[in-house]
Amino acid sequence: MTEKKNRILEKIAREHGTPVFIIDHEKIRQNYREFKEKLPDVQAYFAVKANSNPEIVKTMYDLGASFDVASLPEFMLVHDNIKHLSEKERQDFIWEKIIYANTIKPAEVLANLNEYKILVTFDNVEELRKIKKHAPDVGLVLRIRVPNTGSMVELSSKFGVHPGEAVDLIAEALDLGLGIEGISFHVGSQCNNFDNYSQALNFAYSIFKEAELRNYQIGFIDKDGKRKKILDIGGGFPVKYTPDVKSFSSLSEILNSEIKRLFPNGDIQVVAEPGRFMVATACTLVTKIIGKAVRDGKTCYYLDDGVYHTFSGQVFDHQHYPLHSIKRGEKKVCATFGPTCDAFDTISLADELPEDLQIDDLLYAENIGAYTIASTTYFNGFPPPKVVHLNK
Ligand SMILES: Cc1ncc(COP(=O)(O)O)c(C=O)c1O
Repeated sequence: MTEKKNRILEKIAREHGTPVFIIDHEKIRQNYREFKEKLPDVQAYFAVKANSNPEIVKTMYDLGASFDVASLPEFMLVHDNIKHLSEKERQDFIWEKIIYANTIKPAEVLANLNEYKILVTFDNVEELRKIKKHAPDVGLVLRIRVPNTGSMVELSSKFGVHPGEAVDLIAEALDLGLGIEGISFHVGSQCNNFDNYSQALNFAYSIFKEAELRNYQIGFIDKDGKRKKILDIGGGFPVKYTPDVKSFSSLSEILNSEIKRLFPNGDIQVVAEPGRFMVATACTLVTKIIGKAVRDGKTCYYLDDGVYHTFSGQVFDHQHYPLHSIKRGEKKVCATFGPTCDAFDTISLADELPEDLQIDDLLYAENIGAYTIASTTYFNGFPPPKVVHLNK
């Protein structure tokens, strides 16, 4: 299998040059299907920020996914796929299948969003006042702050109202004449502590209960004329980058049983915003050795991709993407550096690679699809890698 994969990677690199970022759309489809199979009652809004390649957005659209966008350009990327629909179909799609999940929105963006009846998240009263003024027609989902303990990427220091203040904020929205459709949270990205989800679900349950006791009406009327509340369980679904990461199956069992226990009445529409889960394992980077040196006795390889480019996930996403060699050989601890004229551009001081690799030999990194090419730069004049699509 590895030999076969190596030949494919080599062929792509020969044809397209390096660095080359390969997106396998069949793997994206598999990930989406797995998510739907294990969480059948959860509507999956793909978080576009994880990888906003337009072809990925198209594949997700063809699969019937919903979308979490967090900027106007991301919204327009999704909108490109629904341009051909009639006005009514387009409007229904936006309302039913897109959420603008950035709690902070500039006034101009709100004014733009108001044309579309779209769900947006918020977590503070200033935002509510802006929404009232510039976008009174959008739907509102209140984001609450929940524990992010043990998640690789922490989000709770920046987003979410404290659960103890949530119902008062709902009251402020209602006083302003705005409606609240539901509650959202995010347990932190690459979450390996599933208690975060259980605690967050309990917070959401308590807030819905307290709002009910205070006679605050939350929710929307669905197609069958039933009032429903949105419960948005965010992202965080972990990818098995390393064997210690817990399985998605065990998380889905916890989520299914906790949601059933806390919300047995069927008056809740559960949605999620998976980003990483859909794309991380679908992408591989192939890079070439462009320089070699021995420094303090250690073999150092200089590559044509690095930390300012696809490996930017090391900085922004706190992940490590081990490099593998297409050529075989006895492995030693080697250093790997990116191409820029900056020592920060160090991919690893401890990649296990053969020592006798030569200039032009190829290396590759797998599971590199989420929060990687999304944050690549043009630093030092080096452009992002070329993108190649498989199984589109
Ligand atoms: C609001 C929101 N939703 C969803 C996501 C996607 O999260 P993940 O990639 O962990 O699934 C993020 C990631 O930062 C986010 O901020």
